[in-house]
Amino acid sequence: MLRWLLACAMEQSTARTMAARSWLLLLCLAAVATAGVLQARAQPDSIGFISIDCGLSGTASYVDDTNTLSYAPDAAFVDAGSNHNISAEYITPKLGKRYLNVRSFPDGARNCYTLRSLVAGLKYLVRATFKYGNYDGLGRPPIFDVYIGVNFWSMANITDADTPLLLEAIVVVPDDFVQVCLVNTGTGTPFISGLDLRPLKSTLYPQANATQGLVLLGRINFGPTDATDIVRYPDDPHDRFWLPLVDATSWNSISTTQRVQNIDNDLFEAPSKVMQTAITPRNASKNIEFSWDPEPQPKNPTPGYVANMHFTELQLLPSNATRQFYINLDGKPWYPKPFTPPYLTTDATYNSNPYRGLAHYNISINATANSTLPPIINAIEVFSVISTTNVATDSQDVSAITAIKAKYHVQKNWMGDPCVPKTLAWEGLTCSYAVSSPPRITGVNLSFSGLNGDISSSFANLKAVQYMDLSHNNLTGSIPDSLSQLSSLTVLDFTANQLNGSIPSGLLKKIQEGSLNLRYGNNSNLCSNGNSCQTTKGKSKLAIYIAVPVVLVVAIVSVVVLLCCILRRQKRGTTINSVKPQNETPRSHVPTGDAYPQSSLQLENRRFTYKELEVITNNFQRVLGRGGFGKVYDGFLEDGTQVAVKLRSDSSNQGVKEFLAEAQTLTRIHHKNLVSMIGYCKDGEYMALVYEYMSEGTLQEHISGNGHNGGFLSWAQRLRIALESAQGLEYLHRGCNPPLIHRDVKGANILLNSKLEAKIADFGLTKAFSRENGTQVSTNTLVGTQGYVDPEYHATGKPTTKSDVYSFGVVLLELVTGRPAIFRDPEPTSIILWARQRLARGNIEGVVDPRMRGDHDVNTLWKAADIALKCTAQSSAQRPTMTDVVAQLQECLELEQARAGGANGSFYTGSSSDPYSGYNGSTADGQSTDVSRSSTAFEMDHNFGRAPTMPTGPAAR
Ligand SMILES: *[C@@H]1O[C@H](CO)[C@@H](O)[C@H](O)[C@H]1NC(C)=O
Ligand SMILES: *[C@@H]1O[C@H](CO)[C@@H](O)[C@H](O)[C@H]1NC(C)=O
Ligand SMILES: *[C@@H]1O[C@H](CO)[C@@H](O)[C@H](O)[C@H]1NC(C)=O
Ligand SMILES: *[C@@H]1O[C@H](CO)[C@@H](O)[C@H](O)[C@H]1NC(C)=O
Repeated sequence: MLRWLLACAMEQSTARTMAARSWLLLLCLAAVATAGVLQARAQPDSIGFISIDCGLSGTASYVDDTNTLSYAPDAAFVDAGSNHNISAEYITPKLGKRYLNVRSFPDGARNCYTLRSLVAGLKYLVRATFKYGNYDGLGRPPIFDVYIGVNFWSMANITDADTPLLLEAIVVVPDDFVQVCLVNTGTGTPFISGLDLRPLKSTLYPQANATQGLVLLGRINFGPTDATDIVRYPDDPHDRFWLPLVDATSWNSISTTQRVQNIDNDLFEAPSKVMQTAITPRNASKNIEFSWDPEPQPKNPTPGYVANMHFTELQLLPSNATRQFYINLDGKPWYPKPFTPPYLTTDATYNSNPYRGLAHYNISINATANSTLPPIINAIEVFSVISTTNVATDSQDVSAITAIKAKYHVQKNWMGDPCVPKTLAWEGLTCSYAVSSPPRITGVNLSFSGLNGDISSSFANLKAVQYMDLSHNNLTGSIPDSLSQLSSLTVLDFTANQLNGSIPSGLLKKIQEGSLNLRYGNNSNLCSNGNSCQTTKGKSKLAIYIAVPVVLVVAIVSVVVLLCCILRRQKRGTTINSVKPQNETPRSHVPTGDAYPQSSLQLENRRFTYKELEVITNNFQRVLGRGGFGKVYDGFLEDGTQVAVKLRSDSSNQGVKEFLAEAQTLTRIHHKNLVSMIGYCKDGEYMALVYEYMSEGTLQEHISGNGHNGGFLSWAQRLRIALESAQGLEYLHRGCNPPLIHRDVKGANILLNSKLEAKIADFGLTKAFSRENGTQVSTNTLVGTQGYVDPEYHATGKPTTKSDVYSFGVVLLELVTGRPAIFRDPEPTSIILWARQRLARGNIEGVVDPRMRGDHDVNTLWKAADIALKCTAQSSAQRPTMTDVVAQLQECLELEQARAGGANGSFYTGSSSDPYSGYNGSTADGQSTDVSRSSTAFEMDHNFGRAPTMPTGPAAR
């Protein structure tokens, strides 16, 4: 064990000998403060030094009269931690002022000091001191890690309360600043007493370079007779601490008062004061011997050591005298040739390649046979080497995110480098780590972070960012157009802030190109539609006064129209709440000559009381699923028909409005590929919808491999599900009058029954389509689910039937590829872009779901992929209608069936190659059915964070 132990123990009796294998030095590092008071500076002084008294309160610096250096309080260098005084029992009259107080860091895994105004690429000596002094009254000195920049420096093992620990490193600093970070390793609260930085010429210490740093083990001055006689600044212009080692029993001291010159291009510049003293063995026939033990650490188990030995001849020798010696390490030559020190001029031997793996490092210096004089040595420095190959995050990114942190006073673990080391990367950031270039910030999630004020221009300086979520803050002002300069940005979320103005044109353009997904719902003053935006305040107020009644009127008219349409058999003026049970199914919207037979279930829009529901569900015993609406329960009607009961909970974020919307829609539409509503309940505050039971759950579960039977869908099954879903949507678009837009088409809203027949579910967001302008009334709240939302709808706020076509295209791509709409690759990737790129290169096998094991016709696969790409065209005009899609998918299915099952391969009975052939007609004990609704704009935001970590069934939401 070899360390620097510095203490103010004047009563020390015997300094240890080198032979004792310990350089335990008991010394007084006295530094008494004097009057000179300067202002704190966070910059190097005129000689480039930074000297910090950590934990010193106030802003005043002081000058230490023993070394004339000025010490600054640390507030300008660190923005965490708290100041403490050491305990009185550890204060002695000669204790240096900087040891009287410490800064400790009880919070956060990593806390850092930042030393600025350096020169990137130059070499610096950095020194940290730690005197515990029982400042916290716990009597337990801590152990923690210290990093220099992004590289591990040393463990700080504070072994006792009184003895200061001193860590020194010589490193090449890659930036114009360097951080010293204390990392809590779970073994006590990190603290620090002092921090120094000293610039060094690049030529000094050749063993320290851009990829390797030196950590001081010992720096010994041989020859002083006073063990307290430390040499440092101003005697050493670099302010290294040279500690005396006194052992009068083994060594003779020799010294001179004449100045020792440094040779030209001296690699170490040992100061004259150090070189003026030396030792020779007391017994002239003996060697000089000393040793050190390696100090392995958990993060550096076999440290490598380099040593610099400093020699000069202090005596003018007569011509018949010679001093010549060998230097040996562990009995083997360390320096290969006989060595003769020059007179009053520094010389040094050092090793470039570190030595490793010895149990002890024994140095022996012996005279050669020709030598008339014993060996001599003036000083030695021993360092372990550390790797400094970790590269900090791109400096532009660091500046930008640091400015963001400062502007919004981000309250997170934002200390040290944003991305490095990975284990300490800043919460909310995603980074990319390339081998040959610095890490970049690619994702920023500052949602729910209490950000106040306008959107910082620094966001636009995060040049590699792909994903930025600033939702649910109090951001004000407008969205800066500079964000459109971020070429990699694919997702930008401003949902639920107080932004105003319009969406900048640069961003709109990206949305239209399909490269950007912008979310901005819940910003009441933000104009989602560029041209309807007010420019002046007065105008805007007026516009609101006008707009509100218009919107109200439109809304009232729509509701009335819808109600009339639904309840035309009812007394005018009644509401759905008072609808009496009906025996007759409304048929007004079922196409005549119904090509699609009614569901086998005899449907009736029956009204249930809450009591009846209790009976049906056996007191709400079995939960099938859970959604934003509330829970979905399993139940049986009197005739044994299994049903799913969706009960609206009080805490539900699905309002009465959506509940009614779904009830209304389902009351009037019936199609074999739309989930059927059997009845509803509006009993006091209880609201519920009763659906046909879909035992095989959602399509999403099957695609993600969580289907109830564990297996995967065959290509033919997928095609049939696609066709049936398309038929359901086509019915909404064409069979209903006015047409209905589902607005939330996705795998989770396509349910499968025991025969794997597909039905569209969740009509809570469905909107009637206005024939006049072809669009629905624009609202500020976008609905839909991340990854499925039509970019045109997104940009305009106006859904069309083509918005459903777009979402259906995404579902179709999911069926082809087996991948979710957005997945990690490793960054969140849209299935559309991903598939488009591969298909453009003709790579169908690169996108097809490998779980189909190649059991598919490549032509139908191409055709289906092609339909999907057409559906997801950026411009709605280029997308097919659902009617086109149905026709195309019909063709695909026929081709696939012909291939798989021969001419008459009936899909419904399964083909021989169908792994699910035994599945049809099974009475699978369905566990869940999706009749939950899911996607208000608000929920969509939450979904995004999880979307890449598919699968998440709707029931889990
Ligand atoms: C810290 O130092 C003490 C005393 O030398 C030693 O016993 C202990 O093992 C060290 N702790 C670690 C974690 O190395
Ligand atoms: C730094 O020094 C080490 C040891 O001599 C060497 O292996 C490494 O290549 C050097 N790195 C640079 C950047 O010169
Ligand atoms: C060197 O010469 C001096 C006289 O010139 C003599 O006293 C001394 O002993 C000699 N030393 C050696 C080592 O021969
Ligand atoms: C001194 O060291 C050298 C080189 O290791 C060795 O060859 C020689 O025998 C040693 N001489 C004495 C006197 O120890």
